[in-house]
Amino acid sequence: MFKSKIAGIGMYVPSNVVTNNDLLKYMDTSDEWIQERTGIKERRFAHRTDETTTTMGVEAAKIAIERAGITPQDIDFIVFATLSPDYYFPGCGVLLQRAMKMKEIGALDVRNQCSGFVYALSVADQFIKTGMYKNILVVGAEKHSFGLDFTTRGRNISVIFGDGAGAVVLQPADISSSSGILSTHLHSDGEAAEILAMYNPGTHANHWVKEKVADFNSNEIGDMFMSHEMIDNAQNFPFMDGQSVFKKAVVKFPEVIMEALQQNGLQTSDLKMLIPHQANLRIAQFVQQKLKLNDDQVYNNIQKYGNTTAASVPIALCEAWESGKIKEGDLVCLAAFGSGFTWASALLRW
Ligand code: ACO
Repeated sequence: MFKSKIAGIGMYVPSNVVTNNDLLKYMDTSDEWIQERTGIKERRFAHRTDETTTTMGVEAAKIAIERAGITPQDIDFIVFATLSPDYYFPGCGVLLQRAMKMKEIGALDVRNQCSGFVYALSVADQFIKTGMYKNILVVGAEKHSFGLDFTTRGRNISVIFGDGAGAVVLQPADISSSSGILSTHLHSDGEAAEILAMYNPGTHANHWVKEKVADFNSNEIGDMFMSHEMIDNAQNFPFMDGQSVFKKAVVKFPEVIMEALQQNGLQTSDLKMLIPHQANLRIAQFVQQKLKLNDDQVYNNIQKYGNTTAASVPIALCEAWESGKIKEGDLVCLAAFGSGFTWASALLRW
């Protein structure tokens, strides 16, 4: 048995900065409303045609691979987490494999939304620990700017999200090594699956979604995968009951962080850095308060990038490391919560 360690990390964000005030062109909102509720000042939007979820993932991966001191041909497995894939199918993993001219290795897409990267890391960790693979590329990437309702109708969601990508290379470390992933913890509760979801295109029957979501505006078009009516009724955009998400997130984030610490006989005071999924600055602040963590024990960058979902944890981890806030031997906890609901944590010694 081995342990797995992050051998290289990289991130990519598009150059196009979109401020809160820029959004006023499209919808009735304000910089004040967005900052007060979410902490977000600006986000990045990918180039409309030249950049995709996969191309951003590739840019982050190139850096992670180079920092690991290997080449794309050394990668022996890909785990790609996203909720905004280039295609409905196939997944982004194979597109990245093609773009980076990798060998005919396995490529797995993970669809766990905000907790996607931590789930993907956990999957990769298992393959490394058993000795099955030696260089696994784990990517989290999103191009949200392509799939949001930028009219006033969709403002409660569209102001929150941004585009970007993060990637790590996971390699085996000696089991006795002090650095590496100590444990990962994965959870789900599908009871409220519809309160943060994108229903279409999908194979559900519309009446079923209507039952679950009181104000879902179904027009009785049955089991259609996608139709003109769905588009006319904005049913091709995500739905979020923000307050319910908030209430669950502030319970499950601390729970899964404490689970990771307790399993390893550690305490919050041992934590050098918590990297929470950048859902909303208010959620991160609530979690920090609940766990009595100091400001310098929690890394937030949602102010600059918005919520980049599966990309947010690796982007924040990469930035924290690049800016010298994480050093060798430091205890780092990655934690995420999102649609599903799913939530997860990973505790690692850098
Ligand atoms: N600009 C201006 N006004 C807005 C906007 C906007 N962008 N969006 C909504 N409003 C208005 C609404 O129309 C409503 O107006 P009304 O009272 O006249 O009807 C009012 O603001 C309140 O709307 P709510 O939807 O109730 O807004 P809420 O106070 O719940 O704030 C928010 C929304 C920020 C999403 C909040 O619910 C929240 O923080 N939720 C946590 C969920 C979250 O952060 N999710 C992120 C993605 S999921 C994840 O990563 C886990």
